[in-house]
Amino acid sequence: MIPSIEWTHDNKVKMIDQTLLPHKLEFLEFKDYRDVANSIKVMNIRGAPAIGVAAAMGMALATIEYKALPKEEFLKRVEGAADVIRGTRPTASNLFWAVNRIWKIISSFPDNPSNISELVVEEAKLMAQEDVNVNKNIGKNGATLLEDGDVVLTHCNAGSLATVQYGTALAPIRTAIEGGKKISVIADETRPRLQGARLTAYELQYDKIPVKVISDTSSGLLMRLGKVDKVIVGTDRVTSDAVFNKIGTYLVALAAYDNKVPFYVAAPTSTLSLHETAEDVTIEQRDSTEVKNVLGKVQIVPDGVECLNYAFDITPFRLVTGIITEDGVFTSEELLKKYKS
Ligand code: MRU
Repeated sequence: MIPSIEWTHDNKVKMIDQTLLPHKLEFLEFKDYRDVANSIKVMNIRGAPAIGVAAAMGMALATIEYKALPKEEFLKRVEGAADVIRGTRPTASNLFWAVNRIWKIISSFPDNPSNISELVVEEAKLMAQEDVNVNKNIGKNGATLLEDGDVVLTHCNAGSLATVQYGTALAPIRTAIEGGKKISVIADETRPRLQGARLTAYELQYDKIPVKVISDTSSGLLMRLGKVDKVIVGTDRVTSDAVFNKIGTYLVALAAYDNKVPFYVAAPTSTLSLHETAEDVTIEQRDSTEVKNVLGKVQIVPDGVECLNYAFDITPFRLVTGIITEDGVFTSEELLKKYKS
């Protein structure tokens, strides 16, 4: 897959408009951080690592916009931009991780705004490159868990489109295939935004990796029938007791546990938030029309009936077989031991 987001040579943020996939591959270009923030909110770009990089690049645009101002005013305005960007989506750690990483640079250099802006642009570009490297390492570590012939079930899209490139949950599959193993994928459609049906299926077909799409309600039966060897999902945030990921992940994890199918979570360390517990996290609730209408087009719920639209759910560690980071594969106990401090 081509990168989902990049910084252009003329200082713009260019991204795939994921709301148009799989029907149209079109790009958006922004030079205003407000537009980048909006693109995160309306999910032109989505997926925790991609959101993180978009946030960093949005911050870089803000520093360019304000770099002619005196330092104090510059800091005030860029802090305002950081608040706008942080306010776009509440659950993915990467958004906050990325803004904080950029803010550290902005606040720790006693230099003029123009020089700070150059450093921030370089940092945002570096974060995009680092994302790909991290994903490749998740791929290497996760591929050791896969055997020739495995069928891997995944939920939502934690692939190339959810990152800069290569993906997290799909990275082990890509690496195993590159290493000569035959692996195929079952993608849950992932109501209501259909990231599995639209995006996972699109990018795997694009890269000629065998994929079948199922309705979200089918995964339990397929596991019972022995048609799933492993589950690998991505994550938006890992706390000290649980994994947050796209709504529906918890039910997949329960079915996997009940059917003794290993359930793995691919988690770049930028999604780790181990100082928190599940209770501390705000789960995004999106507009209920996303549930009421299929992709904003066909209304499937009677007028006047209320819909609930929680975007993420919580999978407790007891259901997780292993967590794959760029450093290795860990049980939840090992993960806490390695990263908590
Ligand atoms: O609402 P989305 O599409 O941003 O949700 C995406 C997911 O839940 C992914 O599984 C998660 O961000 C990990 S992406 C590598």
